[in-house]
Amino acid sequence: MSEKKEVYQPNPEFAKNARVKSMDEYRALVQSSEDDYEGFWGKMALEKLSWRRPFTSVLDESKAPFYRWFDEGELNVSEQCIDRHLKHSKNKTAILFEADNGESRAITYLELYRGVNKMANLIKDKYGIQKGDRVIIYMPMIPEAAFAMLACARVGAIHSVVFGGFSAEALRDRIEDTEASLIITADGAFRKGKPYMLKPAVDKALQMGCLSVKNVCVVKRNFEPIEIVEGRDTIYNDLIDNISSECEAEAMQSEDPLFLLYTSGSTGKPKGVKHSSAGYILWAQMTMEWVFDVKDNDTFWCTADIGWITGHTYIIYGPLAMGATTLMFEGVPTYPDAGRAWSIVQKHRVNQFYTAPTAIRMLHKVGESEPAKYDLSSLKVLGTVGEPIDPPAWKWYYEVVGGSRCSIVDTYWQTETGGHVISPLPGATPIKPGCATLPLPGIDAQILDESGNRCATNQGGKLCIVKPWPSMIRGVWGDDDRFISSYFSDIIKDGKSVYFTGDGAVYDEDGYITITGRVDDVVNVSGHRLGTAEIEAAINKSDKVAEVAAVGRAHEIKGESLFAFVVLKQSRAEDEKLKINTILKQEIGAFATCDDIVFVEALPKTRSGKIMRRILKSIAKGEKITQDISTLEDSSVVQNIIDIVANN
Ligand code: WTA
Repeated sequence: MSEKKEVYQPNPEFAKNARVKSMDEYRALVQSSEDDYEGFWGKMALEKLSWRRPFTSVLDESKAPFYRWFDEGELNVSEQCIDRHLKHSKNKTAILFEADNGESRAITYLELYRGVNKMANLIKDKYGIQKGDRVIIYMPMIPEAAFAMLACARVGAIHSVVFGGFSAEALRDRIEDTEASLIITADGAFRKGKPYMLKPAVDKALQMGCLSVKNVCVVKRNFEPIEIVEGRDTIYNDLIDNISSECEAEAMQSEDPLFLLYTSGSTGKPKGVKHSSAGYILWAQMTMEWVFDVKDNDTFWCTADIGWITGHTYIIYGPLAMGATTLMFEGVPTYPDAGRAWSIVQKHRVNQFYTAPTAIRMLHKVGESEPAKYDLSSLKVLGTVGEPIDPPAWKWYYEVVGGSRCSIVDTYWQTETGGHVISPLPGATPIKPGCATLPLPGIDAQILDESGNRCATNQGGKLCIVKPWPSMIRGVWGDDDRFISSYFSDIIKDGKSVYFTGDGAVYDEDGYITITGRVDDVVNVSGHRLGTAEIEAAINKSDKVAEVAAVGRAHEIKGESLFAFVVLKQSRAEDEKLKINTILKQEIGAFATCDDIVFVEALPKTRSGKIMRRILKSIAKGEKITQDISTLEDSSVVQNIIDIVANN
């Protein structure tokens, strides 16, 4: 039984002017989507998007689960995000850039238009990029990253942003999977007052293969020395001034892919999640309006990196589609001190602040009294995303950062969902600490049991989305079978395969949904999603390692951390621990290293040779082993591992 949680009502002053003002209004929206699902979405798509050519059907289910939305419709996402705002808001700030060193720069919608068009002309004319081509973007958090994404959208190229924290090896894997012909990168940028580099990782990736790549476009940001490969590398800064700032946007079909974003699953290599143009941008905009309730004069700040889906939808596409001002921050929230985030809120009078629980826990730990030093009265809505938020962190966020005045929107969603799917609405939903609350109108999210029946109160189950929705994943790049097996093969409801998120969840007595975490082998380290299979594959590259199993364990700040059980081929090498993290840094990135590594003699396996991960998870968590270990090939292995972990 879950204990009863405190309930916090929306601030009545805020609710008065909110887009959705009450639970009655919320329920009416849900009802209208249930009464006429296609009618609901069709109306939204007509209202919110500017179509070049109208769509002729709302939803085509004939090739399920390869659903199609808004067929025959034509639009261009860069026009949604820029051109249509020029009439009334050309001098409004689109992107407010806050540099690591505290300097800031406001880019208006007109300037954004010019920046994007120039970049679009550059990639089209200089590098020959055409509709459907893939472009890798490996960039720091600078406005040119936004220009690059939107320029791809403008010419119809499919971008795939790779998070700057990924290593050369991980970058190579993504380049090769997409067969991109162009990489847009930067020399590097600044973090904590010092320059850091990106271009060397591109050079290294390209030395390891990536034969599809013809050009590398380098934005100079920190002006540190870099190597230039003649005929392949060109400098954006040298070319951009002489390029026209008019570039006609390509007409795109609703279903033309807008981008690929690689994410981890429970097996194999990361998957290239494919998103569409119309459905994605529609929901990006609608959730910005409903969940953050951003108003015309507001400044919205999402602290994510553009390399993750949160950065795509809530730094770039969502805010710009609705014509808002989006803040982009190059640095880290603890430099020059633990008050940096709050000083930025004060400086730019930020109205909506959106971050991850791991950041909240860290800011709480290192700077509990920092928020009190700043004027945070501009804040109206506080958001969290990426992992379950523990009630103590939630309360600190609510009381100390939000002054018990702001709604907290605990937004549950995934790379695959494109935008929020379960979240409170700040002017309507009574909230509870650590609870994502209710599905958004139009999203048929349900907690189901193995047979596809809706779970009862307090009965944990699998979180599924029963009906297709416009911003859903359209496929896994180059692997249709994997798309079906990853998302549509677990739960059948009423004879139909439904989308399974990979997360467990539970209803409380009010029908509110609390996410209990992944039920597959995906670990959320500081909100970064990692598959244990990927971690194991990387560690296995060491010729000293015979076998490895990695699991997640609870971590005070990171939410979860990685725990590796390693069997070495020969006697224990003392420095192997360090080397394992060196390998992980090299193969994936520094954020994917293990906090715990233990060397064991064997792993617990069933007689058919399957590693019993549940047992390892329990050991990593320090729990008593309650599982039946009689089916193990050699049950003494378990006690042996427990002893080693205890003495570690
Ligand atoms: C987890 C991030 C609890 C979940 C947008 C999901 C959450 C995974 C929440 C997706 C939340 C995201 N409460 N857990 N509010 N939001 N998650 O693809 O396990 O990087 O499946 O997308 O993060 O991570 P991804």
